Amino acid sequence: MLFTPYKLKNIELRNRIVMAPMTRSMSPKGIPTQNVADYYERRAKARVGLIITEGIEISHDASSAYPNVPRLDSKEAIDGWKQVVNGIKVNEGAAIAQLWHCGGFRKPGMGPNPKIPGHTASGLTRPGKDVAHPMTIKDINETIDAYAADAKRCEEIGFDGIEVHGAHGYLIDNFLWEGTNHREDAYGGSIEKRSKLASDIISAIKSNVKSDFIVGFRFSQWKQQDYHARLAKDEEELYRMLRDPIESGLDYIHSSMRRYWESEFDGSNGNLAFWTKKISKLPTISVGSVGLKSDFTDMTAPANPSGIQEVVKDINEEKYDLVAVGRALLADHEWVVKMEEGRLDDIKPYTENTLKEYY
Ligand SMILES: Cc1cc2nc3c(=O)[nH]c(=O)nc-3n(C[C@H](O)[C@H](O)[C@H](O)COP(=O)(O)O)c2cc1C
Repeated sequence: MLFTPYKLKNIELRNRIVMAPMTRSMSPKGIPTQNVADYYERRAKARVGLIITEGIEISHDASSAYPNVPRLDSKEAIDGWKQVVNGIKVNEGAAIAQLWHCGGFRKPGMGPNPKIPGHTASGLTRPGKDVAHPMTIKDINETIDAYAADAKRCEEIGFDGIEVHGAHGYLIDNFLWEGTNHREDAYGGSIEKRSKLASDIISAIKSNVKSDFIVGFRFSQWKQQDYHARLAKDEEELYRMLRDPIESGLDYIHSSMRRYWESEFDGSNGNLAFWTKKISKLPTISVGSVGLKSDFTDMTAPANPSGIQEVVKDINEEKYDLVAVGRALLADHEWVVKMEEGRLDDIKPYTENTLKEYY
């Protein structure tokens, strides 16, 4: 079923393969250039089912932490995204924009406004490291509004939907993680309260866009600050964490893992996407070293192509609905076509140079 169509809300995807969101830092002043449009178009032309864009920093002063990451807060940036969406759509692809607030990854002195510090739940960028600004309720409300306004912009640009980036240690994950969220108000304490920022953002987005616009949520147990961190130790905690975001009206959930074949909870089979689907009954996206042969410790380590029999089996068994592919699609933009045709030997491997050379 991997190469058969899938209906996600109101759009028909031509297959179950999703391009994972991957930051490129090739958008000076936040404006995606022709290079960016060509990069996505190349992959849409080569039959990627759904493209989730690189993280787009939301239109808030504290959202950015990296130079040349795309934004939505200028006419030029919006025109750049229209080019991107057009290149995907003329090739019968589907496009979702990932909305990102970098939270505590923002360091003092960073642009565009160097006076603005990194924003986090309680001032912590990782457990024990208190160097950021603990967000006030006003900060939180402004951030929620910025997400809602940017989602609307994405709808007007022509995207099929947006994905709220709640993973990998950035702002929303900083609130979800008890190691960094020590708040005593409505946004801290129990796991349900720590997920309130996520559900408030999703609710605000939903009430600002049309009902057919897709709203997804990406989360992870792992953080860049700690690969072994966990938000939920079992199925029940996972349910408690996701319940309110789901009830806020999510259309899909993207469960970010580093290795998709690993069982999530002790004593039971099934990866994080499997458990997410079981709990939420929503479409879920799995991810993590798909098509790569090696046991990764690091995103930049080289890896050879490998088969995808396990993914095919999981999708056939409806353990999850869609599968995202990251690095393999950077190394070879024709990965989907070659996989579908069984041309494993033709696939360009992911090497230590891929991040410098891919196009
Ligand atoms: C260069 C690079 C940039 C990434 N940028 C993002 C990002 O902007 N947003 C996000 O949610 N994940 C990001 N990720 C994580 C990927 O979406 C994906 O989850 C991860 O690479 C694992 O998938 P893979 O093993 O197929 O590469 C990035 C990964 C890489 C390698």
